[in-house]
Amino acid sequence: MDSTVMKPGGAAQAFLSRAKRFLIGGEFVESISGKTFEVVDPSTGNALARVCEADHRDVDAAVAAARRAFDTGPWPRMKPAERQALIWKIGELIDRHAQELAEIEALDNGKPVTIARVVDVAYSAEMFRYMSGWATKLGGRTIPLSAPGDYLSYTLREPVGVVGHIVPWNFPLLLAAWKLAPALAAGCTMVLKSAEQTPLSALRLAELIQEAGLPPGVVNIISGFGETAGAAMCAHDGIDKIAFTGSTEVGKLIVKAAAGNLKRLSLELGGKSPMVVFPDVDVAQVVPGAAGAIFFNQGEVCSAGSRLYAHRSVFDKVVEGVAEIASKIKLGSSLNPATEMGPLVSEEQRARVMGYIEKGRKEGAAVVTGGNAPNGLGYFVQPTVLAGTHKDMTVVREEIFGPVLCAERFDDDDLDRIAAMANNTPYGLAASIWTRDISIAHKLATRIRAGSVWINCHNALDAALPFGGFKQSGWGREMGEEVFHAYTEVKAVTAAL
Ligand code: NAI
Ligand code: MG
Repeated sequence: MDSTVMKPGGAAQAFLSRAKRFLIGGEFVESISGKTFEVVDPSTGNALARVCEADHRDVDAAVAAARRAFDTGPWPRMKPAERQALIWKIGELIDRHAQELAEIEALDNGKPVTIARVVDVAYSAEMFRYMSGWATKLGGRTIPLSAPGDYLSYTLREPVGVVGHIVPWNFPLLLAAWKLAPALAAGCTMVLKSAEQTPLSALRLAELIQEAGLPPGVVNIISGFGETAGAAMCAHDGIDKIAFTGSTEVGKLIVKAAAGNLKRLSLELGGKSPMVVFPDVDVAQVVPGAAGAIFFNQGEVCSAGSRLYAHRSVFDKVVEGVAEIASKIKLGSSLNPATEMGPLVSEEQRARVMGYIEKGRKEGAAVVTGGNAPNGLGYFVQPTVLAGTHKDMTVVREEIFGPVLCAERFDDDDLDRIAAMANNTPYGLAASIWTRDISIAHKLATRIRAGSVWINCHNALDAALPFGGFKQSGWGREMGEEVFHAYTEVKAVTAAL
């Protein structure tokens, strides 16, 4: 554990010392109540900044601005190519401020700045660029009718309206980009609420969106808590659709809250994604792949490979290999360029993860490596491998959302039974299959009940690939062309000729 604490560069420091207000209707404004809340650096537990705290009145103001921008503003009526150019520009501005954004994200979330730069920031810029291209490509189709008479029928794809985006703390900037970019391309207007743990990068993004020159009210960004501002958004009659990423528990609350005006919903929720390793693999290739699948981003990843099932003939070698990598991962503060794993996002999240490890021990799992929270400042948890886990243990059934792998051996070659083992979870976000046998790989891929299946890799994501969950991992898909189901309504127009 390297406890060297580093200072951010000048641009990030300047941002940290500026007032952090909401973007509403094209202006930076304070909360109506005047309330602010503290943001903490999880590497040290020290205060980092204070940001304005939204309550239902700020939500009302942001929704009113988005409503005006949708009902009477230029954005939904603008030529697609003009929208495309403005969305592209946001991507360019993110790239231009990449190091600053990476430092802000690392300080706020705890993730290593090197990861923030090449993953969070780079993929955010790419998401705006990729989605900008869809602005000019979304269209309907003509449909031949069988009804008696002569008709011309065609469909239009129209923006769903005012969208409320609610994002979590594990990829604050990137998940904001996943939501804002396609909604903008579709011609929607929107209110985004960041997570209370990590409001900073969204506020810097708000400044860049202003700089890009979007019409006022198209993107409104607020900071605040889920139970207050988030709940107010979900119950708001002025919002036509909520796009949410977060816990399955809150996803279910949102389903109830949205009933009032039957808002459209897309929900990207938790996961407990399996990795299935067959006997024919090259262990030297699987080991770093599996370690990366669970330890990337401190394990705070909805699609983390958290359940490892390895065939008994390779189980020991795979588990030893992953444990060896785990024991060598350099924990450290987020701004240190040598850090490979940062702290968890909050004291609460560390307590939650440590509680799971304790439960795993009590229920009979063997701690192969890790298992502790290092002494000293910051919310660190050692990368942990639990072996001898089985389907009834809490650590296997529930999402831990931390650097904890559950490893179990299997001794079977029946693909239906192997699929049943992998599918034995209420979640269905992702899975990976590790084998050199293409027949096994593709047969199992069809039997897995999950939105993403990776073969000989894990967490391979791309702006062009749809991502989302089966079962209790959610509703709808993000990214790719599929995301536009979430942000458009289809209208059928029929003319009697
Ligand atoms: P959460 O689901 O409470 O928070 C996510 C977002 O929802 C935040 O912006 C929060 O302010 C908002 N929110 C909370 N309650 C709300 C409500 N009643 N109405 C509207 N919005 C609300 O997640 P939390 O408590 O931060 O983490 C708990 C667990 O959730 C984690 O340990 C992890 O298992 C899971 N999680 C999954 C994520 C994913 O990527 N699928 C992301 C974050 C958490
Ligand atoms: Mg919560």
